[in-house]
Amino acid sequence: MKVFLTKTIGNGSVPAFILKEQQLLERHSFFKLLAEGDRKQLLAFQKKSPLKEGHNHLIFLPSGREVMLIGVPERTTWNHRKAMLAARRVVWFAKRERVKRIAVDLDDFSSIESKDRGMLAETVAAQFTLANFEFTEYKTSVPDGWSFVEEIAVFSLKPSAAIERGVAVGTIIGEETNKARTLANTPGGDMTPQKLAEAAAKAGEASGFKVTVFDEKEIEKLKMGGILGVSKGSAERPRFIVMEYLKGGKNERPIVLVGKGVTFDTGGLNLKPRDGIYEMHMDMSGGAAVIHVLAALARMKVKKNVIGLVPAVENMPSGSSYRPGDVLKSMSGKTIEVLDTDAEGRIILADALTYAKRYEPRLVVDIATLTGAAMVALGQRASALFTTDHRLEERFRAAGEHTGDFVWPLPLWEEYEEEIKGTFGDLANMGKTRYGGAITAAVFLWQFIKSSRATRDTKQGVERNIPWVHLDIAPRMTTTEGSFLAKGAAGAGMGVLIEAVRRI
Ligand code: BES
Ligand code: ZN
Ligand code: ZN
Repeated sequence: MKVFLTKTIGNGSVPAFILKEQQLLERHSFFKLLAEGDRKQLLAFQKKSPLKEGHNHLIFLPSGREVMLIGVPERTTWNHRKAMLAARRVVWFAKRERVKRIAVDLDDFSSIESKDRGMLAETVAAQFTLANFEFTEYKTSVPDGWSFVEEIAVFSLKPSAAIERGVAVGTIIGEETNKARTLANTPGGDMTPQKLAEAAAKAGEASGFKVTVFDEKEIEKLKMGGILGVSKGSAERPRFIVMEYLKGGKNERPIVLVGKGVTFDTGGLNLKPRDGIYEMHMDMSGGAAVIHVLAALARMKVKKNVIGLVPAVENMPSGSSYRPGDVLKSMSGKTIEVLDTDAEGRIILADALTYAKRYEPRLVVDIATLTGAAMVALGQRASALFTTDHRLEERFRAAGEHTGDFVWPLPLWEEYEEEIKGTFGDLANMGKTRYGGAITAAVFLWQFIKSSRATRDTKQGVERNIPWVHLDIAPRMTTTEGSFLAKGAAGAGMGVLIEAVRRI
């Protein structure tokens, strides 16, 4: 799909009037661009059946032109969140009606939270692109082909270079997010650790970052006992994917992004029940996000040093599986007592976080479909956010609000460390009670970031902990009903990560 800035609306495109309740049709910028007879007809239609919130119409006008009327909430309750939904809804409706080319007025999407036109253009273009996605790879094509919007002309009375750039950047963000959704949607049999590594290599080549893939031998050499342990039950061997995008200053310390890459999570010997196992081919959503965040940053030519790390494994039950009670020696030297083989994500991430420290990062962010408990806590609308750094918390929340990739904080306190003390190993891979599972998982990961040997601030002679953010994206792994997005992977974490990295 092509999204572009325009000063006029051509005859070939269907203008979409996104009208707030009570907003006068004749005041809309598109109205005066219509032919006289069309205007009359449209006013008559509006008089007969006034547009209400939630209404969608495709109207054929006397001149042969079609227009769309999209009813959205009135001005007093209008906000940026509703604007993002409206952007998706326009595309969803056009797809349903098989309209290929549409025109929108950027002003229709503005709200008090998004005064900056460049940023608004970016958001809107990203939302359009997300809504135009469908995972059709495994379906026989329908006779007339799939219905996609081919072109969206974004109209502005005051076009600017900032808006133009916003449209281009938003399109990149949308496209890369859709690629992450495709990876996550791909069935587990076709998206193995090796296939995920190949996808990373392909993304690196296409957008311009370096990809190195460690195989099992190299993982052994690195003494990544966590990754090796979890991967034992599967015929698919583990991979450790390292991606480097170094377009920042030579001495600028990098931001390291770590993504959980469990290509299928059966739970292992603690096998998941039928309802729990169904969507577990998406348990590499965090890894997919890291791959395509790097691709997006590279395509946007962001001047930063960013590293992506993805431990990729399949969690399977078999005669060679790791067992409950096994004690794994992680790369950090800390031992992990396996109480439940289904809490595998934190085990592989432990090794990846240890590896991340090699880069002396200025920030580490990990992103993982880590716990069902995060879904219990937050529902399906927000990913769980953990950090001890208030400024980072604020920045990530703002990035989530701006992009529609919402995050919400949960506590990261040392008191919870009591819960994950091991009996026969240093750490247990799950809490002692059934409560606060998202928090105990976060606190477990924390043990591999905070350490007495953290980056040394030589000037002051003190040891500092590495700034760290953990995102549990299990809640937002799949799209929700009524969000005008295709069923399946949501691309969670893409928006918030791209935005946060840019702002840092
Ligand atoms: N991948 C799952 C978490 C998950 C569940 C993600 C539902 C998305 C949707 C994770 O590996 C897991 O199984 N976690 C366990 C941890 C427990 C055994 C301590 C869980 O959440 O039940
Ligand atoms: Zn699991
Ligand atoms: Zn998992």
